[in-house]
Amino acid sequence: MRRREFLAGALALSGCAPMPQSYARDGAPTESLATRARRSGRWFGAAIKSRQLREDPDFTAAVARECDIVVEEYELKRGTTEPKRDRFDFSGADQIIDFAQEHRMRARGHALVWYAANPDWLEPALQAADHAGREKLMLSYIDAAMPRYAGKIAEWDVVNEPLEPNEGRADGMRQDSMWMRALGEEYIDLAFHHARETDPNAMLFLTDYGVEHDSPRCERRRTAMLKLVDRLMARKVPVDAIGIQGHLKPFREGFNQDIFARFLKDLSDRGLSLSITEFDVADRGGPPNPDKRDREVASIGKAFLDVAFDNPATQALLCWGLSDRYSWLSNFPDYKWPDGQLSRGLPLDDKMRRKPLWDAIGAAFDAAPAARRQASPRSHNA
Ligand code: XIL
Repeated sequence: MRRREFLAGALALSGCAPMPQSYARDGAPTESLATRARRSGRWFGAAIKSRQLREDPDFTAAVARECDIVVEEYELKRGTTEPKRDRFDFSGADQIIDFAQEHRMRARGHALVWYAANPDWLEPALQAADHAGREKLMLSYIDAAMPRYAGKIAEWDVVNEPLEPNEGRADGMRQDSMWMRALGEEYIDLAFHHARETDPNAMLFLTDYGVEHDSPRCERRRTAMLKLVDRLMARKVPVDAIGIQGHLKPFREGFNQDIFARFLKDLSDRGLSLSITEFDVADRGGPPNPDKRDREVASIGKAFLDVAFDNPATQALLCWGLSDRYSWLSNFPDYKWPDGQLSRGLPLDDKMRRKPLWDAIGAAFDAAPAARRQASPRSHNA
C-alpha cells in the first residue's frame, strides 16, 4: 500500500487524489457498505438509539440497508440501565438487540466498565464499601448485562477508556476514574476475568480513543495503551481485541499512515484482534464550503481506513451514528459548530443521502486484503 502523510488543514489535504463521484445518486442500485465489508471478511455498522428505530423509518431503513453490525449509542451504559441500585431498565437495549436479531445483524455491547455515564448512586456506594464490596459493585453490572444478551451480543466493550496520560501518572492510566480509585489497575483484570466466565463465547474488547493522530497527545496515549496491553498479557488477562474508537479530528491534528499502521501492527503482533468501534470525523475547523469539506473529510477517512483494513486483524468498522441527522458531534462542546449547523462527519447526510465519506468507506473495503477472523474468542490463559 502506498502510504502518504496527512497533515491537518486544507493545505495538506488539497494534495490528495480526488474522491470517486459515485455518491448521492439517488436510486442507484449500489451495494451497501455491509456487502462490501463482508467481501473482505469484515463487518460494517453503526451506533444507534432505540428512539430512532421507533420514530424514524427512513433512518431505520438506512441502518437495515447499510449495516450488518450495530451497537447501542448509550442504552447499555450503566447510568441508563441501572438508574437505581439493582433496579434495571434494559428496555432501550432490548429494542436494539431485537432489531439486530430480526435483521440477522451482529451486535456489540457498549460498555460494561467505564469511568463515565454511571448512575449517581454508584460512586458514593463504592466509597462506603469495603474491598470485596467494591469488586461486587463493579462485577454486578457484568452479571446483570452479559447473560441477558448471551448469544445475541457477540462482543463486549468490557473496559472503555482506561487511559488518560494528561492526568500525570507515569503509566498513563486514567486516575480520575471511580474504578481506578476503588480498586487500582486490577479493576481491569477483574472485569475481563469475570466477563470471560460470565459469557465464554463473547469476544472481549478493551477500547480507547486518541490513538489515531500524529500528535504528541496521541503518541502518549499509544505508548500508554501498548504498555497496558503488555501488563495485561503478562498477567494473563483474557483480552481478545482492542477497539480503536476512531473519532478523528483532522482539522486540529495531523495523520500519518505509517505511524498508525505501526501502532496497529504492534497490537496485532501481540495476537490481538482489532476493530474501529466509533468512527467519525469532526469537521469543525474545515473549509466553510460543505462540498469541499465533505471531500476533505472523505480523504482523511480513506487514508485512515486504508491503514486500518490493511491489517488483517481488523474485524469491523462501526461509525458512531450513520447519518448526520443524529451525530453526537453536533452537540459535543468541543466539536459542535458555533453557528448551530450540523456536523458532517458520518457517511450519510441528514437526508440519508450517501456522501463522499460513504464512498471512501466503500473504496477502503474494496481495496482491503482479507481479514483474518478468529473463529472463537481466544484466551490468554492457554
Ligand atoms: C457519547 C454518545 O454519543 C452521546 O450521545 C452521549 O451523550 C455521550 O456519549 N466515547 C464513547 C461513547 O465511548 O460512549 C461516547 O458516546 C462518545 C465517546
